[in-house]
Amino acid sequence: MEFIDLRRQYARLKTAIDSRMQAVLEHGQFIMGPEVAELEQTLAKRTASSDCISCSSGTDALLIALMALGVGYDDEVVTTPFTFVATAETIALLGAKPVFVDIDPRTYNLDPHLIEEAITRRTKAIVAVSLYGQCAEMDIINEIAARYRLPVIEDAAQSFGASYKGCPSCNLSTIGCTSFFPAKPLGCYGDGGACFTNDNTLANRMRQIRNHGQDRRYHHAVKGINGRLDTLQAAVLLAKLDAFDQEFSTRNRIAANYTALLSDAVITPYIEPYNTSVFAQYTVQVEDRTCVQEQLRAEGIPTAVHYPVPLHLQPAFVTPEYGQGSFPHAEAAANRVLSLPMHPDLTEADQQRVAAALLEATKKTSKHLGIELSA
Ligand SMILES: Cc1ncc(COP(=O)(O)O)c(C=O)c1O
Repeated sequence: MEFIDLRRQYARLKTAIDSRMQAVLEHGQFIMGPEVAELEQTLAKRTASSDCISCSSGTDALLIALMALGVGYDDEVVTTPFTFVATAETIALLGAKPVFVDIDPRTYNLDPHLIEEAITRRTKAIVAVSLYGQCAEMDIINEIAARYRLPVIEDAAQSFGASYKGCPSCNLSTIGCTSFFPAKPLGCYGDGGACFTNDNTLANRMRQIRNHGQDRRYHHAVKGINGRLDTLQAAVLLAKLDAFDQEFSTRNRIAANYTALLSDAVITPYIEPYNTSVFAQYTVQVEDRTCVQEQLRAEGIPTAVHYPVPLHLQPAFVTPEYGQGSFPHAEAAANRVLSLPMHPDLTEADQQRVAAALLEATKKTSKHLGIELSA
């Protein structure tokens, strides 16, 4: 069994993917070819955004967005410590400081009620992460940001396709940034990403930044990066987009199935009633995770931990202000979370196998968590 089975997906979508890629090989416009513009239009439409700026990865999408907002030396950016490193890495690379705020233990996303006390005169932006495929609490975050006249980036690397109160992820704030890393719900066959905005000035700036700051060939209006999406990757994404809605439904069916099978034994994902999740990950909480993971591995079932060490405890981000105990919910989650195989080609039999093995493993460790989801 694979944790994310891209081979099964390719077998299912082979004709469409092959023909889209073949078209690029034949026209030969490998950089900024017509598929890139087609993809951007399609994605803008899907998210009801006025602009989509495709780029070379989710990390570069964050970097481009932060650069476009003018984040730089000595600025502060409020964000979560319970995320993939790219969220804070891009802030730090620009000379700014990630200021961490703890998470809501039910959703694993930023606790919006803790944001305000982290805002200082140096704060330049807020980056909210929509973790595991569920959007962060964007209305409250936007309302606080508006009071302090701060822009908000949604790190939607894991949530393309999800919705918040009926609105699509990626179009919930000043800029939405997503990733097309192969394992993401919409993944290409290499690195890829995109920025979304409804602000025309920001859109133009981001377009320039992703292409060496050029406003026209060899004229560099601002400092930029080589952050373009390859045409071949755009072609793969266009082919996969046709199957995306179906895959979204399948992911949700699989998640509901897992929850029905597992909710008596482990803490299963909590999705706010006004959200739909794209279930980039199906993540549960277990006690004695190492032991559970080993038992599953022995049964041939791969699992993953997203993420074992919160960013404030990572050597790269250590500062005197933060230490063990600074963000108890993030730290508790980091010790307990376990992601199960999740992809649209996971069969019913696969799920039964995963659930049976997990139930057996938790029985053996015999320490079911007693936390009420509604607490
Ligand atoms: C929350 C989050 N932000 C940013 C990224 C970076 O995306 P990429 O790997 O495409 O650079 C990821 C990728 O895993 C992510 O999960």
